[in-house]
Amino acid sequence: MNIHFFVQITYILASILFAFGLKFLGSPETARKGNQLSALGMLLAVIATLVGNHMIGFQWIILGLVIGSALGAFVALKAGMTQMPEMIALLHGCGALGSVFVDWVHYLKLHSQLIFTINGVESFALFLSIVIGALTFTGSLIAWGKLSERLPGRPILFPGQQWVNLMILGGILISGVLFLMNPVRIDLFYTFLALSFVFGIFLVIPIGGADMPVVISVLNSYSGVVACTTGFVINNTLLIVVGAIVGANGVILSIIMCKAMNRSLTNVLFGGFGAAKKKSVSGVKKEVHSATIADAQLILEAATSVVIAPGYGLAVAQAQHAVRELGEILEKNGAEVRYAIHPVAGRMPGHMNVLLAEANVPYEQLVEMEHINPTMNTVDVAIVIGANDTVNPAALTDKTSPIYGMPIIETFKAKTVFVIKRSMASGFAGIENELFYYDNTLMIFGDAKDVVQKLVAEFKNK
Ligand code: TAP
Repeated sequence: MNIHFFVQITYILASILFAFGLKFLGSPETARKGNQLSALGMLLAVIATLVGNHMIGFQWIILGLVIGSALGAFVALKAGMTQMPEMIALLHGCGALGSVFVDWVHYLKLHSQLIFTINGVESFALFLSIVIGALTFTGSLIAWGKLSERLPGRPILFPGQQWVNLMILGGILISGVLFLMNPVRIDLFYTFLALSFVFGIFLVIPIGGADMPVVISVLNSYSGVVACTTGFVINNTLLIVVGAIVGANGVILSIIMCKAMNRSLTNVLFGGFGAAKKKSVSGVKKEVHSATIADAQLILEAATSVVIAPGYGLAVAQAQHAVRELGEILEKNGAEVRYAIHPVAGRMPGHMNVLLAEANVPYEQLVEMEHINPTMNTVDVAIVIGANDTVNPAALTDKTSPIYGMPIIETFKAKTVFVIKRSMASGFAGIENELFYYDNTLMIFGDAKDVVQKLVAEFKNK
């Protein structure tokens, strides 16, 4: 078989594996299989690429493979579940930088030839690839810094920021147009390369707070677009196909997240979330009511319908197994138990589904926000466990709140609401939660796992 034919067939096979891998990732039950299929696709792609370029020396590739795999394995093993978004930001950034290097080397190679030849499509793809790749790299680094709290998480705004952005963008466009007219000019190449690195920083610093997940998803999409344009530059079909899949997925995920927060993508990217002053809850401070474990057990024992609204704190406390045990006890006691899933609860898409599935909570008990909300009036007890922003009624009532317009799990409509958290501290968006002051809310202060385990013990001791 001719090598070129083998490479192309393997690329098609890899693309099919990626497409099925993605499809299987759509449900928690098949997600593992999806990951394995995609990984197999990537392995085939790497083998085909190496076989197709058999004339090059492999020593550098093997060295890169060993260093990269060791670093990747180390970072992945070290990162906790709640650090996934920042790790994803870093990985996308590295992918984008990789594409920039490939394009850069390709351009230098063309330059080193006796006669410099590049066609219009290639030079345009090169320009796009360098710009999007460079800004994705620095933008992802800033997103990583913000999420890992190495940089301030709030939006960084300064007077004239939009003008600075416009000037940088203008510089990129002017040098780009001149480059397209005369692609041999390496000075122009370095100009838009440098400006694009700077532009990535300025694009992401004004975004913060609860908008960061959307930014990560948008950057994910950009990294796909870069892979795609790099495919055009070096004439690699697999990169074009896979890049397009990743790009389209990132866009779809960003739109889903924006819908979940009732915000538009432009508003997220250019709105400066969280820049508004955070004010205290409705002027006058009301009283906070708290409950003991024994009180909570008595109320729960009498409940016939219970909704558990999990959030980031559940993941931090690793309380999922204890929560499943509590759910089973309540069911045995005759209550209907459901888990209310907010699309941005936790710190990554599907975070709560993954955690609860890990603890073997039956999948049919996980109910999406839009399906559970219309039934909240009929619920006896809502137990909010480590959630805050995703149950904050200010999102519905307070027009000045930075999360105004974001749909929430309407736990406040239940007859009794228990909120399990360690203190009155705010959540990711850094704002107070008026739910804690409602008359039907009882706070149970403590670590989520500890409190739920004590509740389980209280039921068992009865
Ligand atoms: P948050 O609003 O972040 O609140 C979590 C609460 O958990 C905190 O108020 C904290 O209060 C409590 N907590 C922390 N550790 C705890 C522990 N060991 N035991 C008990 N409670 C604990 O959570 P949420 O309601 O899940 O909302 C998620 C937020 O993150 C949203 O603003 C969302 O936009 C944002 N976000 C989401 C994603 C995705 S894609 N899901 C990614 C990044 C950001 P105490 O300190 O008082 O305990």
